[in-house]
Amino acid sequence: MNLTHIEHLGIAVKSIEESLPYYEQVLGLKCYSVEEVADQKVKTAFFKIGQTKIELLEPTSEESTIAKFIEKRGEGIHHIAFATDNVADALAEAESKGVRLIDKAPRKGAEGLNIAFLHPKSTCSVLTELCEDPNKK
Ligand code: CO
Repeated sequence: MNLTHIEHLGIAVKSIEESLPYYEQVLGLKCYSVEEVADQKVKTAFFKIGQTKIELLEPTSEESTIAKFIEKRGEGIHHIAFATDNVADALAEAESKGVRLIDKAPRKGAEGLNIAFLHPKSTCSVLTELCEDPNKK
């Protein structure tokens, strides 16, 4: 799959506003972007540490998969995202190895990345995202 690094960790929170003091004042990270991703019904906040980001995910609707996640499992780590140079190729490879896909094709995620999710049933229960930065091509 040619993964290069952990692009980000997705963390489900009830409220970005209430979570910010921990990340900024305790950990000393700086939130550099807050963005709403309408089709995923979430608000996101980003921090950077090295080449890895932390993505806080706050549901903007009861229908959001993040709202359902929090309801079932509480706040916490929601997914791990790996950077790859080609999400479509990585998906094809995963599928050929019997991995169940959530996204059959890459779609647009936060920060303009092309993203796709693998199903946790096939990934040792860790929801896994693949990301490709189209600006790095
Ligand atoms: Co993500």
